[in-house]
Amino acid sequence: MKNKILVTGGAGYIGSHTCIALHEAGYGIVVYDNLSNSSREAINRVSMLIGQPIDFIEGDIRDAELLKKVFNAHHFYGVIHFAGLKAVGESVSKPLMYYNNNVNGTITLLEVMDEHNIKNLIFSSSATVYGDPEILPIDEKSPRSCTNPYGQSKLAVEYILEDIAVSDENWNLICLRYFNPVGAHPSGRIGEDPNDIPNNLMPYISQVAVGKLEKLSIFGHDYPTVDGTGVRDFIHVTDLAQGHVAALNYLKQQTDLQKFSSDRTNAIQKKSVGFLPINLGTGKGTSVLELVNTFSKETGKKIAYQFIDRRAGDIASCYGSADKAKTLLGWHAELSIADMCRDTWRWQSMNPDGYNAKN
Ligand code: NAD
Ligand code: WQD
Repeated sequence: MKNKILVTGGAGYIGSHTCIALHEAGYGIVVYDNLSNSSREAINRVSMLIGQPIDFIEGDIRDAELLKKVFNAHHFYGVIHFAGLKAVGESVSKPLMYYNNNVNGTITLLEVMDEHNIKNLIFSSSATVYGDPEILPIDEKSPRSCTNPYGQSKLAVEYILEDIAVSDENWNLICLRYFNPVGAHPSGRIGEDPNDIPNNLMPYISQVAVGKLEKLSIFGHDYPTVDGTGVRDFIHVTDLAQGHVAALNYLKQQTDLQKFSSDRTNAIQKKSVGFLPINLGTGKGTSVLELVNTFSKETGKKIAYQFIDRRAGDIASCYGSADKAKTLLGWHAELSIADMCRDTWRWQSMNPDGYNAKN
């Protein structure tokens, strides 16, 4: 029988790509999403790509009663928890909304999991928990600190997960810290579909390329980096999706070992996974200008840009060590910056209005 996974936030950008990777890896999926930052069309497209309907529940992770019904109706192996709000700027003006959604929502989910004795979880954390790092590449032991409510909400959930792992050794909690996810499925059918004007670099570039925005403003030209612009660890969303499959396979292997050892009284007791933070990045930094130039080269589209002042809260460089993911999960990112640009452009040019388009 297939292991069934509850995917919260599975209609969103990273969740939708991960659903495809999970299906291809032989996992069963149930998507739970309130569609606050996504659309049914994303679910339709994922169904089309995997060639079968998706088990989809429209619901909020803060709705304990609905979650209980879902947990009663299915036997889940575990949960991949993407559901959350993610706009840094918005979190500064609406901190209560962010803490309520991201922290309270996760607590409600964890309580329902606990009640149903489902204790295997993969959580979407972020490299933002490392704040302004002192040492690059950033490894998982680097100190954590955040300066905005979005980041604080991720950090708060990390602390909660650490505490519950200490309280009960049956929890197996993998905390994936993503760097900068970009790109789209190679089919061009699913991708990132921001509401309004994008905050993030890659969707901004692709909307300039498709003619929806006039020019890119590059925030800062005086950072101590290769060309004065910010440096980030961009990672292709399909590589990221595979990282979740690798994390889930690892969890499964560990929980099978735990079961095996508890079935044999004399066997050496295998330890639970506890709280396990793992970076998902490429290990390489790319500057804003390098990304813009690669996008132009790969797509033949000229990207108009201007330099403006630094954006408040931005850091010069951020890229992660990918060693732990390699050693523990046997996973590493395979796709290049050129792949990320080509796939973003295929999605953007096929869907200039995102999921709203009639195609
Ligand atoms: P997204 O907004 O595309 O997906 C999140 C999904 O969660 C959306 O479909 C939204 O409708 C749903 N959702 C939000 N609140 C919910 C709630 N209360 N109940 C049910 N569903 C809810 O974002 P994404 O880029 O796919 O990010 C997925 C996760 O990864 C988020 O937790 C985000 O914070 C984290 N993350 C994202 C990035 C990034 O740059 N995209 C980087 C690091 C971490
Ligand atoms: C990348 C670089 C900008 C837009 C954010 C969140 C982080 C994580 C990923 C969720 C920076 C520059 C950007 C533009 C620009 N999300 N830039 N012009 O800030 O690294 O990370 O998304 O967890 O928490 O903070 O990503 O894409 O916004 O910026 O020059 O219009 O591009 O200054 O150097 P960031 P980004």
